[in-house]
Formats: sequence, C-alpha cells, structure tokens
Amino acid sequence: MISLIVLVVYCLRVCQAFELGSEIQAINQEALSDSLLGKNASDSGRTVAIIGAGAAGSSAAFWIGKGRERLGVDVTADIYEAEGYIGGRSTVVYPYNSTQYVPVELGASIFVDVNKNMMRAAREFNLSLLHFEDNAEVNGVWDGEKFIVFLGGSRLSNWWNLLQVIRRYGWRSPKRTIDIVNGMIKSFLTLYTRDTPRWRTVAEASSRLNFTQFTEDTLSRYMEGKGVDRLWTHEVIEAATRVNYGQNADEINGLGGAVSMAADDASGVEGGNYQIFENFVNRSGARIFLNTPITSVKRSSSSLAQWEVSTAAGDAKTYDAVIIATPQTSSVRLSPPYNDTKSKRKFVHLHVTLIATTAERPSATFFNTPKPPKWILTTRENARNGGPEPEFNSLTYHETLVVEGKPTEYVVKIFSKERISDEWLNKAFDGQVGWVYRKEWDAYPYLLPQPDYSPVVLDQGLYHVNAFEHFISTMETETVASRNVVDIFLEENFGSGICGQERNLDRNENYVYGWDC
Ligand SMILES: Cc1cc2nc3c(=O)[nH]c(=O)nc-3n(C[C@H](O)[C@H](O)[C@H](O)COP(=O)(O)OP(=O)(O)OC[C@H]3O[C@@H](n4cnc5c(N)ncnc54)[C@H](O)[C@@H]3O)c2cc1C
Ligand SMILES: *[C@@H]1O[C@H](CO)[C@@H](O)[C@H](O)[C@H]1NC(C)=O
Ligand SMILES: *[C@@H]1O[C@H](CO)[C@@H](O)[C@H](O)[C@H]1NC(C)=O
Ligand SMILES: *[C@@H]1O[C@H](CO)[C@@H](O)[C@H](O)[C@H]1NC(C)=O
Ligand SMILES: *[C@@H]1O[C@H](CO)[C@@H](O)[C@H](O)[C@H]1NC(C)=O
Ligand SMILES: *[C@@H]1O[C@H](CO)[C@@H](O)[C@H](O)[C@H]1NC(C)=O
Ligand SMILES: *[C@@H]1O[C@H](CO)[C@@H](O)[C@H](O)[C@H]1NC(C)=O
Repeated sequence: MISLIVLVVYCLRVCQAFELGSEIQAINQEALSDSLLGKNASDSGRTVAIIGAGAAGSSAAFWIGKGRERLGVDVTADIYEAEGYIGGRSTVVYPYNSTQYVPVELGASIFVDVNKNMMRAAREFNLSLLHFEDNAEVNGVWDGEKFIVFLGGSRLSNWWNLLQVIRRYGWRSPKRTIDIVNGMIKSFLTLYTRDTPRWRTVAEASSRLNFTQFTEDTLSRYMEGKGVDRLWTHEVIEAATRVNYGQNADEINGLGGAVSMAADDASGVEGGNYQIFENFVNRSGARIFLNTPITSVKRSSSSLAQWEVSTAAGDAKTYDAVIIATPQTSSVRLSPPYNDTKSKRKFVHLHVTLIATTAERPSATFFNTPKPPKWILTTRENARNGGPEPEFNSLTYHETLVVEGKPTEYVVKIFSKERISDEWLNKAFDGQVGWVYRKEWDAYPYLLPQPDYSPVVLDQGLYHVNAFEHFISTMETETVASRNVVDIFLEENFGSGICGQERNLDRNENYVYGWDC
C-alpha cells in the first residue's frame, strides 16, 4: 500500500531542473538549399525523410543510425522540423526569461525506471538524472471546495495520511490497483525483449500486450469490474489521470488510468529532457532542417516507389520512405489522400501556467485551510455531485529560485482546461506573483474507451509513428513506436530489423532491444 501512496505522489508531472545544459541549437544543420539541390535517392541506398523532431522523430533517426551500423547498409535520413528547436512537446523555459535561473519543463517532465529507452539514453549520453522520490511533498486532493484527502509526504505525515486513506477507501482497492498496475508493467516490459512484438496496426500491439480489455471500458467501469471501490477510483486514481492526461475517470480508458498510476521512481534529466532528443539527432548521422515545416507528401510521379516531400518554402525532394512523427497527419497534406479521419481525433487542449511567487505555499484564504499543500491534485467527484468543478487540474510547487539580493521565489506549475487569469493567480497566491508564463498545448490525445486506432503503415514506405499515441502517450512510448516503424522499414528494404538476423544471446538482465541486440 505504501508503494501505491508513493506512486501517487510521483504521478505528478514534476521536474526540478537545475543547471542549464546547452542552449538549444541546430545540429548538423546544413543550408537547406544545398540539400534540396542535391541528388535524389541513389540506386543502391535508401533515403528517408522524417517529419518532426520530438521524441518520435529524433528517436526514429537514432534507430535508423543503429540499423545502418548493425546491418552495414546504406541508408540516410533527413529530419524536417517546423520549429527552431529539437524536442517538440519536451522543452524548457527560463523564469523571467533569464538564464541566471534554472530551466523549467514546459511540457513532458517525467519518465520512470521501466521506461528503458529514456533511462538507457540518459545513461549513455552522460546526462544527469533528477530523482523526484527524494523530495516528496504532501499531495492534497482538492475537489473545488475542499481537500478531501492527503497523500504521501514526509515519513511522519505519511503514516498519518495513510491511515486516513485506509479509513476512507479500505485497503483492498489500493492493493488491487497495485496488482493491476504491476500486471500492466510486466506486459509492457516485453517490448524491450528479443521477442518484442512488431506491429503494423496499433490494435495488433494492444492485443499482443494483452491490453485490449484494458481499453474497452472507461477507467471507472474497468475498475468497478475489478472490484475496486468507486470512490477510490474517482478521487485518487482520477487525481492521477487529471494531472497526467487532463481526463476524468469516467472518460479515460482503463489503460490510461493504469499508465497514470505507474509513476514509481520518477526521474527527469537535469537541465531538460529535450537533451535526450538532441543527442538522438546528434548521434543519428541524420541531417536536420529546423524552421522547415513540411506541407505535403505525395507519391512521386516519376517513381511510384518514392515520395516527394515539400516544404512550406516550396522546396521539394524525393525519398524512398517517409516517417511522419507529428501528432496529427493533418498538418501535412498527403497524396493520395488517406481517409484517416481517426487521426484527426481531438487532443486535450491544455493550458500550462508557470509562475514565480514569493508565497511559500498557496493562499490559506483561497484554499480555506491553514496550511495548504504545495502539491495540489484534483478530482471531479464534487462536480459529479452537483458541486463546482476545480478551476485547474493540478497546481504544483517546483524549483526554488535563489538570486543574491532578491527574496526567494518558487516556480509553480498549473495545468488547466481554461486560461488562468491574473486575478485568479493573485487570489491563489495572496498577490505575491512575479513572473507569469502561459502556454497552450494540444497535449495528448483523448484516451477513449474502444479506441479506433489510425494506421501505423499508411502505404508502402509511408509510416505514422504517432498513431501509437492514441494507445499510450508518453515520451518513452514514442521512442518505442518509432523503433517499431524503423524495424518495419529496415525489414522491408534490407531484409531484417534493427538487430539484424543475429541476436546477441548474452542473457544480460539489462538487455534492451535495439540497444544491445
Ligand atoms: C504539458 C505536458 C506534460 C506532459 N508530461 C509528460 C510527462 O511527464 N512524461 C511523458 O512521458 N510525457 C508527457 N507528455 C506527453 C509527451 O510530451 C508526448 O507524448 C511526447 O513528447 C510526444 O513526442 P512526439 O515526438 O510524438 O510529438 P511532439 O513532441 O509533438 O513532436 C512533433 C514535432 O513535429 C513538429 N511538426 C509538426 N508538424 C510539422 C510539419 N508539418 N513539418 C515539420 N515538423 C512538424 C513539431 O514542431 C514537433 O516538434 C506531456 C505533454 C504535455 C503537453
Ligand atoms: C529528383 O526528382 C524530381 C522529381 O521526383 C525530379 O524532378 C528531379 O529532376 C530529380 N533530380 C535529380 C537530380 O535527379
Ligand atoms: C527571451 O530572451 C531572448 C534572448 O534574450 C529573446 O530573444 C526572447 O524574445 C525573449 N522571450 C520572451 C518571451 O521574452
Ligand atoms: C561519459 O562519461 C564517462 C566518464 O566521465 C566517459 O568515460 C565517457 O566517455 C562519457 N561518454 C560520453 C558518451 O560522453
Ligand atoms: C490477459 O488479460 C486477461 C484479462 O486481464 C487475464 O485474465 C489474462 O491472464 C492475461 N493473459 C496474459 C497472457 O497475460
Ligand atoms: C553534437 O555533436 C557535435 C559534434 O559532434 C558537438 O559539438 C555538439 O556538442 C553535440 N551536441 C549535443 C547536444 O550533443
Ligand atoms: C472517408 O471516411 C468517412 C467515414 O468513414 C466516409 O464517410 C467518407 O465517405 C470517406 N471519404 C472518402 C473520400 O472515401
């Protein structure tokens, strides 16, 4: 049970980042015109265009590099990225836009030990990890009017909080939840073994992982079927799904709930997770073109086996294969058109508000409690019973800002469905608000029950990595989904996947498919 409480504590999208790593920079960037004037796909080798340089696109380039090395084949890749930086939804900002402060994650902030690609990459790239276990704060679950339960915290309050939890929900529901989450993780880990499934559709991946039943019902109904107490699901598990995916227990599917609860041993890269993706690109041998949105991908008229990729600036180049690594294929015009209405499904539109405040904790007046917790999660349970809906999904204290000659400030991150006004901020932090930074993201897909996934392989040589995001949406799973796509591409073109025919038989317990082969 304790582990579950710890688990809940770390379900937060938390990242305390310290020293500044490197400035985001273009790597291997060549003048675009040189490339576009260059020759088209050569006869023997293969060329690949990757659209997008987030977790999915950068890792796709990295896996292609691994394949080239292992198989000794001639394959080159170009990455096209609309923005001026690598990382996509994984990026940082500086408080007061000043590098004298530590950078703060604006998007994806944590990954966990079982996220083997992220953990391995951080290690191999010599990036330092911040472990969030060490500085656990008490989490309060707020229902819009009051705190209904407190979770985690320092040892003493932990026990007290635990007793409260058992009194309110009993011990069977937490225990069953742990069993469900552990079962999910066990199955998930098969993705890193020699016998990892390879899939052309997401439904196939779901069925090979035995996750189909998980996705058939809402989290509420799934948990009810497993004998888990309704209130526990609606107050505690929902607190996790709201902070992780901005979705409630009666809308998100069971898998989304289990993934949200599987946040044991959370880490982040010191200075920003984007550094993993920069390193992927840097070590891939691929060329990258930043500030280069792609507007269309169409089947080449001269060679039907090729694809012509066009940039917004009107340049075009043909490739043997195209890996689309953007959340929606709709940002790119595909020809022939793929009647892929499914991938146009909605993403959760999330408001992220970062502030710097001198307030040591949220306002006691506003939260109507003497010492409000520094980590506030929320439930919609009160609203389901006719009460008001919390105005935010989560409100969490992060970095401490210390600069000589200035009072200490704290960075607070607020996730919400609607814009958080200055007026609201002033009330919630007793008027002690300094820097404010607002960002809106199409953060993650709605993880609905009975998902109707869009295809991974759209056509011969045309792949969409992010079809997988409608199944599980994390940085890690995007690197797994791109590995699958690269495996298929290499198999189709060179007769074997990233690891070649031979697989290393070394029974190393840390074996990770694609890295160790
Ligand atoms: C606020 C927030 C918190 C999150 N927290 C976590 C977390 O703690 N842990 C976690 O694992 N995940 C988290 N996520 C989810 C995670 O960010 C995503 O699952 C993951 O980063 C997606 O990576 P991606 O490469 O598939 O997509 P993206 O990161 O979106 O990358 C796609 C890239 O494609 C580019 N692009 C788009 N269209 C074009 C075009 N036409 N031409 C060229 N380039 C184009 C974009 O600019 C972008 O760089 C969070 C997300 C958000 C928004
Ligand atoms: C490259 O391909 C395009 C169209 O597919 C063609 O118009 C162009 O002439 C080719 N360029 C070279 C150098 O072969
Ligand atoms: C932050 O600072 C940089 C460099 O000083 C500047 O180019 C940029 O416009 C600033 N951004 C904001 C949001 O003020
Ligand atoms: C990482 O650091 C170790 C020891 O400091 C060094 O031996 C190794 O070469 C470094 N690796 C990379 C990839 O920089
Ligand atoms: C698959 O899931 C079902 C239902 O959750 C479970 O009963 C079964 O044991 C699982 N099978 C495997 C092989 O994990
Ligand atoms: C990328 O590689 C170049 C040259 O090999 C190196 O100078 C640069 O520091 C690297 N950047 C990152 C983020 O690893
Ligand atoms: C695309 O799919 C939708 C829904 O399945 C269908 O109604 C529509 O007719 C299709 N359009 C084309 C051009 O095939």
